[in-house]
Formats: sequence, structure tokens, C-alpha cells
Amino acid sequence: MKFYIETYGCQMNIYDSEIICSILLKSGFIKTSTLKKADIILLNTCAIREKPEKKIFNRLMKIRCLKQTNNQIKIGLVGCLATHYNKQTLEKLNFIDLIVGPDSYKKIPKMIKNLKKEQTKKEIDVSLANQEKYTKIIPIGVRTSISAFLSIMRGCDNMCTFCIVPFSRGREKSRNPNSILKECKILYKKGYKEIILLGQNVDSYFFKQIKFLNLLELIAITVPLMRIRFLTSYPSNISKNLLEVVKKHSNICKHFHIPLQSGSTRILSLMRRKYTVEEFLLIIKMIKQIIPDCSISSDLMTGFCTETQEDHRETIRIMNIIKFNFSYMFKYSSRQGTYAYRKLKDDVPNILKLRRLNEILMLQKSHSFYRLKENIGKIQNVLIEGISKKDDNYYYGRNYKNDIIVFPKTKSKIGSYNRVKILNSTFTTLIGERILSEI
Ligand code: SAH
Ligand code: F3S
Repeated sequence: MKFYIETYGCQMNIYDSEIICSILLKSGFIKTSTLKKADIILLNTCAIREKPEKKIFNRLMKIRCLKQTNNQIKIGLVGCLATHYNKQTLEKLNFIDLIVGPDSYKKIPKMIKNLKKEQTKKEIDVSLANQEKYTKIIPIGVRTSISAFLSIMRGCDNMCTFCIVPFSRGREKSRNPNSILKECKILYKKGYKEIILLGQNVDSYFFKQIKFLNLLELIAITVPLMRIRFLTSYPSNISKNLLEVVKKHSNICKHFHIPLQSGSTRILSLMRRKYTVEEFLLIIKMIKQIIPDCSISSDLMTGFCTETQEDHRETIRIMNIIKFNFSYMFKYSSRQGTYAYRKLKDDVPNILKLRRLNEILMLQKSHSFYRLKENIGKIQNVLIEGISKKDDNYYYGRNYKNDIIVFPKTKSKIGSYNRVKILNSTFTTLIGERILSEI
């Protein structure tokens, strides 16, 4: 039986799709990248905002048509929307055969077999009760041949009032560090050059006295030739000791992804974030003091419940102070089941949410350019990730701060480190040339 999988949403979902592929391949299923050749079509879904949800819904409606020409095809909805959708919505989607939440992927092969035997018309498992961490499953890397995702924890306990994650992915659970280290070694042996550690709040990782900073140091020592990145960091969990570990190990990237969400302390408190704007600024100051040449990126949201023009101006003021290297920016959308959905008024008109979003998008663009230009004249270690999509005479890669750099192709191989002098910058990319000296 052939399966096809489509992934929506964050890096965690990409990693989860790799886990699902691994589980299915082990059970004898064959992976196809052609939708029409598949016996089973899986959509690994995202529930975080209204926009991706709508996109997935439209896609489902298109896929439904395939069933009209071949009613043997089975369609599966897996991931966050499986746990987010209520009974009524799932009933409306009656052409879906398989509905599986983030903690039940191991059951997919059995569920598909049940469907094929026609023992059941529908297979559903959206339980989040079993604390699944997929410890013994080695995901197959499908992203790039250079860098691999590695999820060190699942779920979230923070309960920000706007966020669906604690409901769609369940409570926070950290993986056993031994299984993480084992996975790191396997990735190294397979030829990967970089590991990106994933978690909703990596810095709240905790497993039997092992904190995130201990885990990070263990990984840095275990695979010294691999580059290590991590995201996302919850602002108030960043400690001086963690920063010292990042500073000490040259193979740990000097990049922090720390979502601010809003520049107004009043809004932050309504969001139930655990920091004020002043505290966030102090965290940034501490990071820059310990690791001056680092990059800091963020997530920002416009139009959260009751956000005034004054609150929005505060976000702009703070962005101007920090000048993030880059940010992911969204307009708030109310998610069923969250505290904000139940108790707060989604009272900012859509047009205002969008206008504010466009303003911060433009501002961020200028800040990203400003930050990129800071690299000009410097010589940096660049890990080549591939051939530039715009010009195949150029390689593209990243420096230790996560900036993208293109430089004329040399004899160096994809996956090697190169010393590159940064000559110029566009709004998104650095342009350099390789320096012929040993690293
Ligand atoms: N763990 C991360 C967030 C993960 S969700 C943290 O510490 O904040 C990724 C981003 O999606 C969030 O940072 C937020 O900016 C955005 N987001 C989450 N829920 C949203 C909603 N209801 N509407 C708009 N954006 C949302
Ligand atoms: Fe969501 Fe807040 Fe956790 S944004 S993922 S509840 S830290």
C-alpha cells in the first residue's frame, strides 16, 4: 500500500511527519510523493491560526474529489486539527476515514489495516492521555540532507490565553536525554551536519534533574562536529547559565528565537505571558552582554483582544529598540477552546489587525536589513546547504547566527564549512566570497 503525506504548520509538524513516515515504512507501507498514486492520503495539520486551518479545509475538499473517481482511497486527517475539531465538525467531514491526534501516530498502521479490512468505516484516536514521546522511533529525514530536526519535548503547559497548543498537543513532556543523545549520534553517522532541537519552550526542558542547559552541553560534547540550533525559547526561562553554555561551545549557534508577542505589558498580561516588556528588554540586554555577536528573532501578533492604537505603538517602540534580526508576524485569530475565545472580546476589527500587521511587517523588513548589514566586512563560517535557487553558479548556506549567505560556487562540497567574507547584503540575504584559508 502506498501512502502520501502533506505537512502544514511548524517545524514540529515536519518532524512529526518524519516520525509518521518512519512508522509506516517499518510496517511495510511504501511512500509516494505523487498524490494520485497513493492508496492512503495523510494531511498532517496545524490548528494554531484560522488561516492555515482554512487552507487545509480547502485542500481537503479538493482531495475529496479524488474519492469520487476511486472510492478505495483512504483519507487521513492527523495532527493538531484532529484534536482541535469537535465531534460535530468531524461528523461533517464524513469522507475522512482516519483521524489521529499527535499522541497516537504509532497506531496508524493498525488503523489503516482495519480500514482496509473494512472492519470499521472510520478510525479515530485523538486521545492525548498516553504521554507519547516517540522515544524509540528514529524519524526519516525528509527536510534536507544537511540539517535535521530533533524534538526534545512535546506539548506545552504555559496556557497563553490565545494559544491552542496546550489543547491540541497536550501537556508538556520532555524526552529521556539518552534517547536524544542516541538520535544525535545516528544523525551524525548518517552524515547530517546540523541538528535543530525543537520544543514549544525548549528552555523549560526538564528530565530527572537534567535541565535544558545540561542537555545542550551534553549534545554539544557528544557531536562536536555538528552545528546545534534550538527553538523556541520562552523569554523568562533564558538564564545566564544557559547563555554561558551557548557561548562556551563553538558548535552551538548564537541565535535565539524568543517570542515577544506584544510590546504592551497590559496586552502581555491579558495573554498570560509571564514577563513584562521591561523584563523582556532586560533579557535582551543580558543576552547581548554575554554574547554580543548573536542574532535574536521573535514572534509578534497584532490585534489581540482590546489592543488599542497605544498598545500597538508600544509594540513599534519596542521593535525599534530591539531591532530583531527577523520575526514571524501574525494577526490574532480567536481559537475555539482557548481562554481568550471563552472570556475575552475579539474586538479589534479585521481591517485594523491587518493594517497593524502590515506596519510591523514593513518595520521588521527594515530592521532585518539593518541587522544583515552589520555582517558586512566580517569573515564567517558558513555551512553550505545547497545550490542557490536564483543562480546555480552560487551556493547558499548559513552562518552561526542563522543568516542566509550566497557565494560563488567553489570546489567545496555541500555540507562543508567554508570561510566566507561578507561583501554585501540584500533585504534578505548576505552575499560573500570564499576565503582560501583553513578554518
Ligand atoms: N511556544 C511559542 C509559541 C508557539 S506558537 C512561544 O513561546 O510563544 C507560534 C506562534 O504563533 C506564537 O508565538 C504566536 O505568535 C502565534 N500564534 C499562536 N496562537 C495564535 C493565534 N490564536 N492567533 C495568531 N497568532 C497566534
Ligand atoms: Fe502556545 Fe504559549 Fe505554549 S504561545 S505553545 S501556550 S508558550
